[in-house]
Amino acid sequence: MNDTFLKACRGEKVSYTPVWIMRQAGRYLKQYQKIRKKVDFLTLCKTPELAAEVTIQPIDALNVDAAILFSDILIPVEAMGMKLRFFEKKGPLLSPPISDEASVKRLSVIEPEESVSFVLEAIKILRRELSKRVPLIGFSGAPFTMATYMIEGGTSKNFLKTKRMIFQSPGLYGSLMDKITMTIVKYLKAQIKAGAQAVQLFDTWAGVLSPQDYKNYALPYVKKVIYALNPPIPPLSKGGEGGFSDLRPQTPKPPIIYFVGQCAGLLEDIKTCGADVIGIDWRINIDDAIRRLGNNVSVQGNLDPCALFLPAKEIDKRVKDILDRTLSARGHIFNLGHGVLPETPVESVVAMVESVHNLSAKSEVRNTPRRINRK
Ligand code: CP3
Repeated sequence: MNDTFLKACRGEKVSYTPVWIMRQAGRYLKQYQKIRKKVDFLTLCKTPELAAEVTIQPIDALNVDAAILFSDILIPVEAMGMKLRFFEKKGPLLSPPISDEASVKRLSVIEPEESVSFVLEAIKILRRELSKRVPLIGFSGAPFTMATYMIEGGTSKNFLKTKRMIFQSPGLYGSLMDKITMTIVKYLKAQIKAGAQAVQLFDTWAGVLSPQDYKNYALPYVKKVIYALNPPIPPLSKGGEGGFSDLRPQTPKPPIIYFVGQCAGLLEDIKTCGADVIGIDWRINIDDAIRRLGNNVSVQGNLDPCALFLPAKEIDKRVKDILDRTLSARGHIFNLGHGVLPETPVESVVAMVESVHNLSAKSEVRNTPRRINRK
């Protein structure tokens, strides 16, 4: 199997920079549109064979180094008890929005094997079908981003309802976040058990918070999720392994990637989250982000999704610029700074992936061979 992606996540030496693309399965692919003509989006998510098929489409079409499970961050929210609908152009709608104690009480912490077994089944199919190809990434929304959808009832501009709950009813917000956090932990543990080889937490909207609000109301729950998936290994006693080495995990744990949209104002706090990889959006130079994050994590990113509308030569230049800026990183996984847009020409995505592979393979050394222990 091509394990370049997993190695870069762990900060191990790689012979070229691995690349995958957020939202790599989707409407910019004709193959995807063909299936979507026959079934609606939620049916697609809930039919394991079809979800597996569209997950593999970009692996065939783009030559990327990882697959990401086809699903949506709102699938577990529906399983918690909210009504979920997707509308063309308008996006998702969740009803009724969470607004008071009674609505939080009605939510359940999910049992993944019962309520989202279709996700786990898709993962099992994918592991079989991808076994000699690329690793499979599972994912979840991060607690704050999931809470915004639940409180706003959909996407929002100012996130006023969410912030009003945080500021006026912090206890209520806390009890909602506790339920969401427990759900995410169970959901991701189940995905890993079913075969996900890495997981990404999407905190798309955390960048709308001020740094102090992020630190108080979003980050602690991210830490809880990561800690629950990845408790630190206790140090060995002086004098060596003392026969306990057998008790240590034999296979490395699946890396955790934490992506925050508009992360630039938050990096010093994000740094403390405990993830193996930090996803960086395009509004900051990635070398700036690396400097501020330090050498204990790998980075992922960060081409502007709109750059794929530039002429091929210009795309190459921007790829090269990012590769140059990431030479000092512990590890780098190339990606866009957010999801690929539905209007994107597929040829540009194919050219970008090729460009990342070619330009990075020419560099003398990609990433440091050092293995730095988690704090
Ligand atoms: O990356 C992948 O290829 C895996 C699939 C995936 C989807 N959504 C498929 C999808 C992943 C990882 C997501 C995550 C997701 N979903 C996020 C976090 C990442 C991000 O982009 O910020 C968020 C915020 C959502 C919620 C969501 N789902 C919205 C706001 C929308 C509507 C907007 C849109 O793009 O249409 C969706 C729908 C959705 N999720 C589609 C796809 C392919 C489009 C559905 C369709 O086929 O019509």
